[in-house]
This record gives sequence, C-alpha cells and structure tokens, in this order.
Amino acid sequence: MEKIRVGIIGCGNISDIYFENCRSYENIEVVACSDLDIGKAQEKANTYNTMVLTLEELYESNEVDLVLNLTIPSAHTEVSLKALQAGKHVYLEKPLSISLKDGQKILDLANEKGLLVGTAPDTFLGGGIQTCKTLIDSGEIGKPIAATAFMMSHGPESWHPNPGFFYQEGAGPLFDMGPYYLTVLINLIGPVRRVTGSAQVTFPERTATSEARNGETIKVNTPTHVTGIFDFVNGAVGTLITSFDVWGSSLSWIEIYGTEGSLRVPDPNTFGGPVFVKKQGDQVWREVSLTHGNTENSRGIGLHDMAAAIITGEAHRASGEMAYHVLEIMHGILTSSKTDQHYHLTSTCHVPKIMPVTNEIGRL
Ligand SMILES: NC(=O)c1ccc[n+]([C@@H]2O[C@H](COP(=O)([O-])OP(=O)(O)OC[C@H]3O[C@@H](n4cnc5c(N)ncnc54)[C@H](O)[C@@H]3O)[C@@H](O)[C@H]2O)c1
Repeated sequence: MEKIRVGIIGCGNISDIYFENCRSYENIEVVACSDLDIGKAQEKANTYNTMVLTLEELYESNEVDLVLNLTIPSAHTEVSLKALQAGKHVYLEKPLSISLKDGQKILDLANEKGLLVGTAPDTFLGGGIQTCKTLIDSGEIGKPIAATAFMMSHGPESWHPNPGFFYQEGAGPLFDMGPYYLTVLINLIGPVRRVTGSAQVTFPERTATSEARNGETIKVNTPTHVTGIFDFVNGAVGTLITSFDVWGSSLSWIEIYGTEGSLRVPDPNTFGGPVFVKKQGDQVWREVSLTHGNTENSRGIGLHDMAAAIITGEAHRASGEMAYHVLEIMHGILTSSKTDQHYHLTSTCHVPKIMPVTNEIGRL
C-alpha cells in the first residue's frame, strides 16, 4: 500500500498521541521529527524510533511528503507556509492560524502549489459524532431548528505543563476549544451565515498550578468567557458559550433540537458516545447504539483520511476550507462583541461526507 511519509514539527504535549496513532494507520509513516527545541525532538525520535532533523533539514527533505504541524498557535502560520513553500502537504493542529489573513495565505499557497491542507479537530470522524450525523441525515429528529454548545471549565493552568499560550491571542476558550464544538455543529447542521457575540476577560491574571509551572503568573491577553449566537445557512439558530472562568456547570456539551425530537451529542473533544435521543411523547432520553467505530482516542484519523485523499484524489474531510470557516465564525463572534453589530460570514464550506461504516478505518 502506498504510504504518505510524514515529518512532525512540534514535539510537545500533544505529539505523543500522534506518534502513537500514526504507527497504526496503513497509509502513513512518520519518517522524521523536529522542533525549535531540538532536544524535545530527539527525545520523541528515541521513543518512537524515527529520525530527528533540524527544521531546515525537515522542510528540505525529499523523504517527507507531508508536514504534521503540532506547534503552538502563534507558530502555525510560519511553519505551515514554510512546509507548503517546500512542496509538502500540511496537516496541523487547530486553529488553522490566528488571523483570517494568515489562514487565507495558507489556503492560497496550498492551492497555488496543488497541495492539500487539513486540520484538527478530527474528533467528528469518531463513532459518537458519526452516529449523530447518521441520525440527523436519516431524519430521526426531523429538521434541525436550533442547537446549544457549552464548554465550561476553569482553564488548563492546573494540568498543562506550559499553559501560557492558552491566554494569548489565538487561544483562550474560544480559539482553543471552540473548533471542536463548531466543527461538530457544521458537520451536523451545515455552514453559518451570521454571528453575534459577547466576550470578556474576567480575571486579568491567572496562577499556574500544574507541577512544571506551579506559582507562575500568566497575564491574560484574550477573552476568557465568550458567548456566541449564530444563524446557520439552513435557518437553524445556535448558541455557544466557551469559558475558562467557570468552576462548575451541568450543561450538556452539545444538543441539537429538531422539529421531531432532540439529540444529545457526546463530548466533541472525544471520539466515542454516548448519544441520546428524546422524541415527542418520550418521557426520558433514549441511548442510541453507535453506528460507527473509531470510538477510542483516534487523533490522527483526519490525517489518515487526508493521506487517502492525496493518494486517490478524493476530497478529505478535516479540510482547511472548513477550518477557515470555523476561524471566521470565531473572529466574527469577537468582532461582533467589539462593534456591537452582527458579523456576516464571507466564507462557507462543504459538509464532509459521512464515514464508511467499519470498525477501525485504515488500521494496520
Ligand atoms: N495539549 C493538548 O492536550 C492539546 C490537545 C489538542 C490540541 N492541541 C493543540 O496542539 C498544538 C500544540 O499544543 P501542545 O499542547 O502540544 O503545546 P506544547 O507547548 O506542549 O508543544 C508545542 C511544541 O512546538 C514547538 N514549537 C513552537 N514554535 C515552533 C516553531 N516555530 N517551529 C518548530 N517548533 C516550534 C515547541 O518547542 C513545543 O515543543 C496547539 O495548537 C494546541 O492547540 C493540544
């Protein structure tokens, strides 16, 4: 089977699950890794038995077809543009970029070079959300008319070894966690045409309590409690709250309300269930059996799907086009909050095709 040769740039916290999962996909092989901090790359190269290269060597390598960009958001654009410029496809962690202008630059360069760009999150390709999509597409809850999505926590400084970036532009709860929720909503309901938002910074400073940074002060430079309302192209209305300011909440992750019933969607930051439906006349929510596999931590399944697209020429699901639409929705929420006005989207995207019904897609 043809394999796409992957070079990983960014060997931090999230890289382990990619190194691990990439080993099990039949159409991907991690052939090299690199990082600004070459010691970190060396460590991962030793653990996962791959080659360590300097950044320049990796960009220029003839052995690498695709760069997997796992750097922090402020480096996403620079690394992606360098990789594309060197003729490599790019798959990157969310968000696509910090600014819309940079996001467009990445898509334009890829287009000009005939290369593909894909982005996380790919949790929507897991069994939980694919089951929700199957239910909606089959008319189980009728026509979707509204949705709610809530991500409420008190921030990652209690567990992340390097939490500073979460409080800078390009992160915060909206840009860090919003992509999971918005990507799922687009998959289940479709693209968005207009947004409204309110955003605030509740605590101007935070104190890290994770072991590596215990006691360090983090200056907050991005909103930490953000509410958005959006109008989908098909007429449905969505409400989103993302917060790093809340100590407790019992609100569901995502619910979709249809003309004939309601759907409770599982945590969009995971790949599995449970999925519940409540229809007219039902006294209680009914748990639905999952229709699709890939319910464990399958980070990298979007990369596997993109590798298949590179080989076959078909469309990939976790696309740069959809990531740009998600980015514009997030910017629109903040712009609306600043300007006291609705924000009208200029972008749209195709809704990805449902996954085939097999247990373990493309696993060795
Ligand atoms: N940690 C998580 O649980 C998690 C989960 C999902 C997604 N993500 C996303 O993954 C990305 C990385 O997050 P992380 O938690 O692994 O961060 P991290 O800080 O642990 O690791 C990032 C790595 O990128 C390297 N780096 C930074 N700038 C670089 C550059 N210009 N060139 C090369 N290397 C560079 C850093 O040296 C570091 O090793 C972010 O976009 C984040 O949103 C993280």
